[in-house]
Parts: sequence; structure tokens; C-alpha cells
Amino acid sequence: MRISHQTADGSEAFVHEVPQFGLGVFLMTAEDECKTSVLAALEAGYSHIDTASMYNNEREVGQALKHANVERESVFITTKLRRGHAIGYEDTIEHCKESLALLDSEYIDLYLVHAPPVDPEHRAPVWKAMEYCLEQGWVKAIGVSNYGAAHLEAMKEYATYMPCVNQVEYNPWLQRPHLKQATEDAGARLMAYSPLARGDKVDDPRLAEIATRLNCTPAQVAIKFCYDQGCITIPKSSNPKRIIENIASLNVDISSEMEAIMALEENYVSGWDPTTEL
Ligand SMILES: NC(=O)c1ccc[n+]([C@@H]2O[C@H](COP(=O)([O-])OP(=O)(O)OC[C@H]3O[C@@H](n4cnc5c(N)ncnc54)[C@H](OP(=O)(O)O)[C@@H]3O)[C@@H](O)[C@H]2O)c1
Repeated sequence: MRISHQTADGSEAFVHEVPQFGLGVFLMTAEDECKTSVLAALEAGYSHIDTASMYNNEREVGQALKHANVERESVFITTKLRRGHAIGYEDTIEHCKESLALLDSEYIDLYLVHAPPVDPEHRAPVWKAMEYCLEQGWVKAIGVSNYGAAHLEAMKEYATYMPCVNQVEYNPWLQRPHLKQATEDAGARLMAYSPLARGDKVDDPRLAEIATRLNCTPAQVAIKFCYDQGCITIPKSSNPKRIIENIASLNVDISSEMEAIMALEENYVSGWDPTTEL
């Protein structure tokens, strides 16, 4: 999938290609859990890994890539500037370099501001530093996470390059049409985190009925829904069988059940939601 950064005159800059499906590695905290899961995912055909400074496993992601002996260009790595580190221009640059060192890579494919910096005064300098990292070639693309429509609108005042993605919680129980539209209006793709609502909703009986009719698993319905809505979709699993099950969802045709899946909407937030913060 193509991603790019919109500029003030409406043109596109720094165009990059992102695999629309990937592995999320949040809460992989046991020793080697992340490395083992990334290796299982690469084996299963994944080519995109979503990590973050906050997950404390960037080093294991880098180790897995080295261990698998794959070409760096064949795997797309997303990582994120920790919210507590998003406090100014110099700090942002330092922490980007730190992530590069932990990943043991010459570049990051996609670098995200993990959440709107708590102090609104920090938002412009942090983004200007993200743009600097982009211009240096340390990162191939930059974006945001957990930004609401108002945060995106405010960026137009200070961004030379608008974000190419906005990573937010998105799944059948939280479909966020207005936020998705605002993201697309800013020239960005929506990147769907917690497509399984952190596992909270895998046992939803309504989802089970849909899955039975489609002859697939409940998790596959939720994942494919996000994907078919045009979102970059990054389910997490440390379980080798589920890692395979989740990528196999890309082969499931859910079109006959779209109405039933859309009806699962209940504005359910499984994690945090900084999109509504001022
Ligand atoms: N930017 C942000 O603020 C933010 C916030 C949250 C998440 N994220 C990113 O998005 C990724 C995914 O979100 P998430 O980790 O919150 O939750 P998720 O992917 O919605 O759900 C993960 C949970 O579902 C379970 N699971 C996975 N596949 C399953 C299957 N086929 N059947 C049944 N259960 C299954 C997992 O357990 P097992 O591991 O045991 O399979 C885990 O408990 C994260 O890893 C992270 O990369 C970003």
C-alpha cells in the first residue's frame, strides 16, 4: 500500500510502500518472546512489524531480523517515539537515534509520535524534529498515533509534511468513521491497532455466528474487516498457531457479512484513547 506526506500545496512527498498487514509486538515482555514471535511471523509470510520504544523490545526485533538473515528491505519496521520522550526537538532526534541503535538498522521505515505530546507547546517542535529525521533519511516515513481530528487539524499550521499514517484503535466494535475521514482528509492512512480489541471481543457471540457462516475463525473476521476497510492492520499474537491463523484471514471473503459486522459497533475502547484529549 502506498503512503506519502501531503504538503501545503497539496503535492505528495517521500512516497513509500507499506505492507498493509503486520505483526504488533505490544506486551511481548518475557525474554525472547518478541524475537521468537517475529521469527514465527516472518516464517508465516509477515513482512511488517509494529514495535515502539515503549514496548522495550526494539532490540529483539532487530535481533530477529539478523537471526532470520533476511534482506533489510524485505521487512517493514514501524516504531514509535515514546510519549514521555516527546518533549522537544533535540529529545526527539536523540530518541530516534536510540531506536535506530536498538533495532541495529540504518533506517526505520515508519516512525510515529506515539500519542499527542502532553504539553501542546511540544507538538510543533516534536513534529519538526520528526521531519528532520525524515529529511536525513534515518526514517523513510513519519506519522502519528492516537491523534484526533483536532490534533490533525492543528498540524496544518506547523507541518511541512503532514503525517502519512494515524495509528489508532480500530475494530468492528470501534469503527470511528469521523476520525477515519479526518485522517484521510489529512492525506494519511488509518493504521488499525487492537483489531481484536486486545482479545476482549474474540468471544463475542455475534462474531462467532458470523464466523460460523463464513467458515472461518472469529479473529479472522475482525482482522479482515479492518483490512478491507483500507486500514493497515497489525494484530498481536505470541502464539505460533494464531500468528498463522491471523495472516490467513487475508484469504477470507467477508463481503457477504458486512452488514452484520458493521452492526457490531458499540464505541468500545479496549485500551487508552488520547484522541479526545485537548
Ligand atoms: N499506538 C498505540 O497506542 C497502540 C496501542 C495498542 C496497540 N498497538 C499496536 O497494535 C498491536 C495490536 O494491538 P493489541 O496488541 O493491543 O491487541 P490485539 O491485536 O487486538 O489483540 C491481541 C490479543 O488477542 C489475542 N489473539 C491474537 N490472535 C488471536 C486469535 N487468532 N484468536 C484469539 N485470540 C487472539 C492475543 O493473545 P496471544 O498473543 O496469546 O495470541 C492478545 O491477547 C499491538 O501489538 C501494537 O503493536 C498500538
